[in-house]
Amino acid sequence: APDISLANVQAHLNDLQTIANNNGGNRAHGRPGYLASINHLKAKLDAAGYQTAVQQFTYNGVAGYNLTADWPGGDPNDVLMLGGHLDSVTSGPGINDNGSGSAGLLEVALTVSRQAFAPRKHIRFGWWGAEELGLIGSNHYVNNLPTTERSKIKAYLNFDMIGSPNPGYFVYSASGQPTGSLLLQQTLQAAFSVPTELTSVGGRSDHAAFARAGIPVGGTFTGAEVIKTAAQAQKWGGTAGVAFDRCYHRSCDTLTNINATALDRNSDAIAYALWTLAGEGGTPPG
Ligand code: PHE
Ligand code: CA
Ligand code: ZN
Ligand code: ZN
Ligand code: ZN
Repeated sequence: APDISLANVQAHLNDLQTIANNNGGNRAHGRPGYLASINHLKAKLDAAGYQTAVQQFTYNGVAGYNLTADWPGGDPNDVLMLGGHLDSVTSGPGINDNGSGSAGLLEVALTVSRQAFAPRKHIRFGWWGAEELGLIGSNHYVNNLPTTERSKIKAYLNFDMIGSPNPGYFVYSASGQPTGSLLLQQTLQAAFSVPTELTSVGGRSDHAAFARAGIPVGGTFTGAEVIKTAAQAQKWGGTAGVAFDRCYHRSCDTLTNINATALDRNSDAIAYALWTLAGEGGTPPG
């Protein structure tokens, strides 16, 4: 799998910070910074040869948006999907939550294009709206997929908060999941050169809608409000007795609230999982 450029991921985060700065300090559902974030990603993905779609929904009386990007080619009946939420809370720009996952996914998508990757499976990326208001966008997407389309999605990988300033290296799946989820979990763990902890995040992010639909899910996470233990600081470095992300859901979740090493390792892990799970040997993009 290719090495994802940390500098490029950071440049996307910088773009999201600028979008927040120019739009009242956040990128929240129903605020101008959210649609500006969608449009920014869409333009990059369109230019890279993706087939993009913006799905509109209404929540709290205002428009929300999901963005999907399909990489042409691969087996249309065997879809690997990767996603994360693009909205922030209203209190800040949401650079770790979840500019980090959004930027990592974007750079992996652009790397797929640059390398003209021809996977055996069909690859689709998703950026979800209104996660912070109750997983609204991802639920809307899954609930509105025709049954036949839903059954083509064989796996979903979620990336929400992958650059926490006092990072942990967590991998999650969902409980009571189909056997395919074990492969996802093992692949994500194998993607890291540092020790990982398998954790359960329950229904706290956008994988939940996919899991409920019976789709195997997995994801990585560098931690939010929970305090890092001494044992965790021992194996991962950082500061014991301090939250993984002290700025979780606060105005200080800015560009300075990112651990570059964690962001790089997780971005590389997204690419590793994608290349490993999607497989080589598909029809090259036309
Ligand atoms: N989804 C949570 C939020 O956006 C954060 C989170 C991500 C929690 C992943 C657990 C696992 O606030
Ligand atoms: Ca890298
Ligand atoms: Zn960008
Ligand atoms: Zn989040
Ligand atoms: Zn959040």
